[in-house]
Amino acid sequence: MQIKRGSTRVALIVFGIVFKLPALRQMTTHGLRFHYMRGIIANASEFATYILCNKASFLAPVFSLGFVSISRFESGEKPTWEELREIFRKLPPDAQKLLRYMSRHPFTPQNFRRSSTGLKMIDFGDGFGERYPLSYFLRRFHKEFEEVLKEVQTAAMK
Ligand SMILES: Nc1ncnc2c1ncn2[C@@H]1O[C@H](COP(=O)(O)OP(=O)(O)O)[C@@H](O)[C@H]1O
Ligand SMILES: [Mg+2]
Repeated sequence: MQIKRGSTRVALIVFGIVFKLPALRQMTTHGLRFHYMRGIIANASEFATYILCNKASFLAPVFSLGFVSISRFESGEKPTWEELREIFRKLPPDAQKLLRYMSRHPFTPQNFRRSSTGLKMIDFGDGFGERYPLSYFLRRFHKEFEEVLKEVQTAAMK
């Protein structure tokens, strides 16, 4: 079993399955109950986003019971910064504008893994505190994001 710490959750990786549980230690001084709830919010918002984005192909499949989320372990490599920059450059102006007001964390190479069906975003839970939550961005632009990812991938294969 492998254990990975995120900003709001601890991920336990067992036989290719990821179990995400609220992390009781986080970078805030608001206490255990707050951290626990923030982990639950990340789990619930991640699952809700997956469903509301119609299980978009770039989101790592996830299921949640709130206190625990279950996801598939994405074992592929991380993309390069240049690859991600190319993707963001191709997004519609409205999406690029919104990104300026959001946390950059979800859009870094550490948050993506390569798979046979393209890049997968592995953490898309809301952090509860951002000006624009990631769930809002993804619900609004998941189709455009998916199209750009496919376009960049097809171009890379040529
Ligand atoms: N589906 C996944 N595939 C591979 N690794 C994962 C997956 N989900 C989480 N991880 C690993 O666990 C870490 C913590 O999970 P994450 O979802 O980022 O939690 P948090 O929302 O608290 O940041 C990630 O940084 C990553 O290393
Ligand atoms: Mg994370």
